[in-house]
Amino acid sequence: MSKIQEFISNMTLKQKAQLVIGTGMIFDVPESAEVPFEDPLEEVDDAEYTNMVHEIRKKLPGAAGFTAAFPDIGITPQVLADGPAGLRISPKREGTDDTFYCTAFPIATLLASTWDTLLVEEVGKAMGNEVLEYGGDILLAPALNIQRDPLCGRNFEYYSEDPLISGKMAAAMVKGIQSNGVGTSIKHFTANNQETNRLSVNTIMSERALREIYLRGFEIAVKESNPWTVMSAYNKINDQYASESHDLLTKILRDEWGFEGYVVTDWGAGDDLVAQMKAGNDLIMPGQPHQVDTLVQAVNSNLLEESVLDRNIERILSVMLETPQYKGHQCSQNPDLRKHAQITRKASTDGMILLENPNNALPIKSAEAGKVAAFGNSSYEFISGGTGSGDVNEAYTVSLIEGLRNGGFETSEELSGIYENHISKMRKQAGKPKNFITSLLGGKEPVAEMPVPPELARKMALQNDLAIITIGRNSGEGVDREAVEGDFYLTENEKQMVKNVSEAFHNEKKKAIVILNIGAPIETVSWRGLPDAVLLAWQPGQEAGNSVVDILTGKVTPSGKLAVTFPLSYEDSPSSANFPGHAIEGEIDETRDLSGFSMMKRTPWEVIYKEDIFVGYRYFNTFEAPVAYEFGYGLSYTSFEYGKMVLSSTDFEKEIAMKINIKNEGKTSGREVVQIYLSSPQVQIRKPAIELIQFGKTKVLKPGESETLLFRISPRDLCSYYTEKGLWIAEKGEYIVQAGSSSAQIRQKASFFLHKELEVEKATSKLLAPSREPEKLDS
Ligand code: BGC
Repeated sequence: MSKIQEFISNMTLKQKAQLVIGTGMIFDVPESAEVPFEDPLEEVDDAEYTNMVHEIRKKLPGAAGFTAAFPDIGITPQVLADGPAGLRISPKREGTDDTFYCTAFPIATLLASTWDTLLVEEVGKAMGNEVLEYGGDILLAPALNIQRDPLCGRNFEYYSEDPLISGKMAAAMVKGIQSNGVGTSIKHFTANNQETNRLSVNTIMSERALREIYLRGFEIAVKESNPWTVMSAYNKINDQYASESHDLLTKILRDEWGFEGYVVTDWGAGDDLVAQMKAGNDLIMPGQPHQVDTLVQAVNSNLLEESVLDRNIERILSVMLETPQYKGHQCSQNPDLRKHAQITRKASTDGMILLENPNNALPIKSAEAGKVAAFGNSSYEFISGGTGSGDVNEAYTVSLIEGLRNGGFETSEELSGIYENHISKMRKQAGKPKNFITSLLGGKEPVAEMPVPPELARKMALQNDLAIITIGRNSGEGVDREAVEGDFYLTENEKQMVKNVSEAFHNEKKKAIVILNIGAPIETVSWRGLPDAVLLAWQPGQEAGNSVVDILTGKVTPSGKLAVTFPLSYEDSPSSANFPGHAIEGEIDETRDLSGFSMMKRTPWEVIYKEDIFVGYRYFNTFEAPVAYEFGYGLSYTSFEYGKMVLSSTDFEKEIAMKINIKNEGKTSGREVVQIYLSSPQVQIRKPAIELIQFGKTKVLKPGESETLLFRISPRDLCSYYTEKGLWIAEKGEYIVQAGSSSAQIRQKASFFLHKELEVEKATSKLLAPSREPEKLDS
């Protein structure tokens, strides 16, 4: 008998139910949140179980969930903690003055903008080390939902609008984290692309969009990195909750892709426990005591076969055997936070994107800059990351003003004083955050900008030599952003600030630079011509100000490129007419066996993905719609020459090797991201004009230095999903390979032929198929 079979044979039915149901989530709710938070464990009349739960919760205070332990039979608990930008735990613990801070790494959107999977793996290694050393087993990360719409409140936790980048980044992150001997939970599987009614939204889309866009990244991550666990999403997909879908969690995830770990629900997802068990959703989180009784009854009344429980337990235990808890790892409680701060500083500079620099205002040396006037609240309260479960309790965030001072810049004390007063006054006036989850988890929302009238701008322009204006945005779990002033659009005060400060400094022949401290696209075209340069710093983790200054001074040459399109206006986004969806008839039966942890009301709601596969650049390029900044865009302080693209053959058989030489032809060192796009024949079905199939990044090239990047184009790179046949097919005909420095700036091209149609992979068709075919953008 295998070890796992032996464990199972020693378990009672009740213990089996207790193992597949998490032991609850308990955390310190700040008083300001004003919500009573009761521990349902109080209801449980089983001293042995409640003592065990109280004990395991001490293992990592602030962790999101724990599985039950049965020490007598050798079953150890698993500690599951958030999240994508670093480990989220309580920084303080009862009975000690020691602190347990974690590193706030850059948000996923910034990491994707590095286009550097090795770097992302490095970040993952550091993140996973904190999980190991603080006593965690599974990090609830990375999150790789598609940035379908600019307004999704959790876009910052996700990588890209493109599934290839999302999958490759997630795989790199998983490899890095898991190299420490701890696990990951790639999430939220799948199509969790909005926060509005996230617990009940019915997402309607074609099978093709599901396969090519919303499953593809997960497929890459599962196949390339073997995550220990997968977190199923809250939402429904084509009428069925993701957490209750056997098609999704068994047929696609396990049978087609070979996933071997366990599936955990998102916290409080779905509404039918038995369906979740049968679907292959092995673990229910955070878990409520009454769910244990429900499962026991379901088995006793033959609604659920005990063998289904055994199968799910087998998967949970096979992961347990790998965990640090099981292996008895003695954690130090003391990861090397200094070293990790260096890693975050480096990673964040590599993902910042220079959007505008027409007259080479940047870089700027501190010794030559003179005195700097820093405008905008976020210069003083730089936002390291978004709110909610993706927020990290870090020891500090270096603000921009601190970064400037650390970098040897002299800064205007007077202006700092004005901003500090304004911020502290506004903070006192501000009530609790509008976003309920942000307030529950102790997060902050930015306060309103103060007006910067022309007089103040002029005074500062006379007293100082350079202006930096930071524009900040934050968002988080639970609420989507809005296409309104102060969110997608700048507020009147922000517009005035950019205009008045730029004009006043220009009048004195001085420069003004805008820094965008944001987690997702905003409107830029109406104001971007006013300052001398615009740097997209994203939300760059705790070394924020230092990282920005590394770019401003040219210590690091910007090499980040957009992994998401910046549209001209919100309405230009292909999803905007169908985001976040609409209310539908019907009622949600609140008496159903919900886990009770949703913290949000369920409303009958539906969203139809009419843009189908035309998400992000797939839409803009195909329909030739103008944008503010295209996918793949980003400037540098140097420039690169693309040598001729060399293909190993012009006839595709099993694969084609491709190489291209990139030469730094500028005057300063730098790195280039090379993007390989493919245009495919479109005889049988319509396809996007171009699709990203590969990417690479050079090392730091000195002026005059060059590097040859190699790529392998495989049959799957040529494929689209043919719904009727349930096949990934490469159509015969001519394929054009394009090497671009962005999706609009194609620098080299070559073509090859496929002489005979290839049926590359068979999928089980009609899985998660929509009951009604959604009306499409191009139909
Ligand atoms: C979020 C997940 C998170 C979980 C545990 C949920 O509300 O959607 O991303 O991992 O909570 O905190």
